[in-house]
Amino acid sequence: MNKLPFFLKNLLFSPVYAQGDILIGYASQTGTAKGLAVQSAELLRAQGQNVSCLPLAQVDISELDHYQNIILFISTCGEGDIPDNGVAFYQRLQERTAQLLTPVSIFAIGDSSYGQFCEAGKRFHQQFLRLGASQDDTLQMVDGAPHTAWQQWFSTFSGIRQDDIAVNEPLTLNFTLIERKPLHGEQCSPGRGAYSLQLAPADQARTFKSGDLLGITPPNEKRERLYSISAVSNDRIELCIGKVSYEEDGEQKVGLCSDYLIEQLTIGDTIAMTYRQQGGLVLPEPEQPLLMVATGTGIAPMMCLLRERQQNQDSADNWLVFGNRHPDQDYFYKEDLQQLQGAGTLTRLDLAFSRQGEQKVYVQNVLAEQQEHVLDWLLHRQARLYVCGQTGLKDGIGDILQQALIARLNDTEQAVQHYQQLLDQEQIVFELY
Ligand SMILES: Cc1cc2nc3c(=O)[nH]c(=O)nc-3n(C[C@H](O)[C@H](O)[C@H](O)COP(=O)(O)OP(=O)(O)OC[C@H]3O[C@@H](n4cnc5c(N)ncnc54)[C@H](O)[C@@H]3O)c2cc1C
Ligand SMILES: Cc1cc2nc3c(=O)[nH]c(=O)nc-3n(C[C@H](O)[C@H](O)[C@H](O)COP(=O)(O)O)c2cc1C
Repeated sequence: MNKLPFFLKNLLFSPVYAQGDILIGYASQTGTAKGLAVQSAELLRAQGQNVSCLPLAQVDISELDHYQNIILFISTCGEGDIPDNGVAFYQRLQERTAQLLTPVSIFAIGDSSYGQFCEAGKRFHQQFLRLGASQDDTLQMVDGAPHTAWQQWFSTFSGIRQDDIAVNEPLTLNFTLIERKPLHGEQCSPGRGAYSLQLAPADQARTFKSGDLLGITPPNEKRERLYSISAVSNDRIELCIGKVSYEEDGEQKVGLCSDYLIEQLTIGDTIAMTYRQQGGLVLPEPEQPLLMVATGTGIAPMMCLLRERQQNQDSADNWLVFGNRHPDQDYFYKEDLQQLQGAGTLTRLDLAFSRQGEQKVYVQNVLAEQQEHVLDWLLHRQARLYVCGQTGLKDGIGDILQQALIARLNDTEQAVQHYQQLLDQEQIVFELY
């Protein structure tokens, strides 16, 4: 292979995505930046431009030089963090020393009610400044709903008239609360627990799917909270809302939106929610196995996936590892899970309760114990791995999987690379909060 002429090697190995003149890359956790990137690409293509539109996880740093122009859409998630599909690209970017001649413009999306406003966009911008590809004014930061600001910015950037650029803001849908019931046991302490909320669409009927998210803004607040849909049917949806409480200055406080939904909203009330289609954990192909790891209300998107799998009669195996504190108080959806198991949809269920016996058991312990099976699912059966719950799960589960891969492949570098590939290809997806 080494004897192949350079141009031929290039032909064989250059990925199809390196063909466009313009690269539109995005780092997006829940789909907003992706939506704007895709729409921008469509608009430029309609002008006859040759555009590649990709998550940054699929962009090779060394290919950047081949483009004539680069536009990046970068959201900030977590606490000033880069979205999962931009992390590895950012690391490689930090390592690059060669100057980049292609100009890079960044549209950064954030929300100033979080601590570190547009931090991810700023970090990318710093790197491209260092490489000589950006200037001070090639970073556009937007606060909150970005669509109108994007319309203006993109019009100036592309020369397309503002009137010809549609603003596809997330739909606002109204829902009426028809039922709310606890998912936890009777002895659950007041600040904890979770509730199932059944809601009926108040406007026209709509088909919801696994991976859809709803955004709710509690009264007198600016910031919207996202929730996964945990069940869908023709005439109602379900949300699974966890009670949030915390201590501040010696005082017990409650989470604003969860308290609003659990304690203040009454049956029959109608509330507005923004609708983000497929921004979360979406249904895999019918024959692709699915390994789900959930803690607490992280069970919500998994319930939707399992129920949709059952409804579609998908043939693939589904394995759930669910963790919470106590089997009597915090075993959410126990009957539903047993029913799904009985029906053969849930092929394997492992439980990890941290307050059950002498020894605390967490989902991480189950995965470590079952690492051979986990690797078989991931490597041989091409299963998807979805993780939803507390933010700490990312490092904990990442460490276990990388250790398991090191043991299996007997090569640390290869194992780390392989893990990164699984993330980049979205075979492993985290939804953490
Ligand atoms: C993609 C996605 C999907 C989600 N899905 C679900 C779901 O299905 N179910 C669910 O229950 N939740 C879900 N969430 C979480 C949800 O969006 C909210 O974050 C959660 O309900 C808490 O909101 P809140 O308004 O009740 O709490 P907030 O009032 O926003 O408080 C949240 C936390 O912030 C901290 N905090 C806030 N103010 C202070 C302060 N002054 N000092 C110290 N700490 C403070 C506390 O630790 C508190 O626990 C999801 C989040 C994301 C991003
Ligand atoms: C859990 C969570 C954490 C966030 N953290 C930040 C942050 O630290 N800084 C910021 O500017 N914006 C933050 N945001 C706002 C997002 O950047 C904003 O909602 C954006 O539209 C999400 O884009 P995406 O759908 O492309 O991921 C956060 C949003 C969520 C839901």
